Amino acid sequence: MNLAVNESQPISTVVLISGNGSNLQAIIDAVKAGALPIELRAVISNNAQANGLKRAAQAGIRTHVLSHKQFADRESFDEALQQLIDRYHPKLLVLAGFMRILTESFVRHYHGRMINIHPSLLPKYRGLNTHQRALQTGEKHHGATVHFVTHELDGGPAIIQAVVPVLDNDTNESLAARVLEQEHKIFPLAIRWFAQGRLKLSDNSTVLDGRTLQQPYQYTDTSE
Ligand code: GAR
Repeated sequence: MNLAVNESQPISTVVLISGNGSNLQAIIDAVKAGALPIELRAVISNNAQANGLKRAAQAGIRTHVLSHKQFADRESFDEALQQLIDRYHPKLLVLAGFMRILTESFVRHYHGRMINIHPSLLPKYRGLNTHQRALQTGEKHHGATVHFVTHELDGGPAIIQAVVPVLDNDTNESLAARVLEQEHKIFPLAIRWFAQGRLKLSDNSTVLDGRTLQQPYQYTDTSE
C-alpha cells in the first residue's frame, strides 16, 4: 500500500460555487491552518452575486464568473467552463455548492478528480430541497455526503458521510444549519485524503488507503 504523502507539493485545485460559499470558506480556512495540502488556483461561479466570490477574493484567490445564462445550451456552457478550468491544470475539481447539472462530456473529462458535497445521506434525497424532504418523511437522521462525481446525478461513489439527528422541533433552517456544520468538517477531510494520495476512484468505487469502501466512511464529530 502506498501512503506516500508529499505535502511539500500542494495539488492544484479549482473550486466551483453558486452561492454563499461557506464550504469554500471551510476549505480556505483549512488551507490557511496548514491542514490541507492544496493550492487554490481559482474559484469559479456561474452566479455573479455569489457571496463565495467575496470570500475567495478576501483570501486572495483568483475568481471568475461564467454565467450559464450567456450560453445557448448546457453543452456550450460546460465546454466554456471546462476551458476556463483547464487554464489552471487542476488535479482536483471541487464542487462546493455548484448548483448545475453537468454534461456527460464534462463529467468524463474530470473523471476521478471531481468531488461534490451533497446535503443528504445519499443515496437518499438526491436533487434539491433535501432538508424539507427529510423532515416531511419523518426521518430520525439526516446528514451530508461527499462523493466522486460520475454521470449519475448525486449518484457517484460516496467517500464520507456525517449523520445528524433530526429533532422534533426542527425547521428546514435549523436542520440545514446542523447539516452544514458537519459539511464544513467532512469536505476538507475528504479533500485532504485526496491531496495526500490516500483517496481514489477505481472501477466506479471509492478506494481509501488501498481499500475499496463498501460504505462511505462514517465521520464522528469529536468537537463537542
Ligand atoms: C451546501 O449545503 C451543499 O451541500 C449544497 O449546497 C450548499 C452550499 O452551501 N449542495 C448541493 O445541494 C449540491 N447538489 P455553501 O455555498 O454555503 O457552501
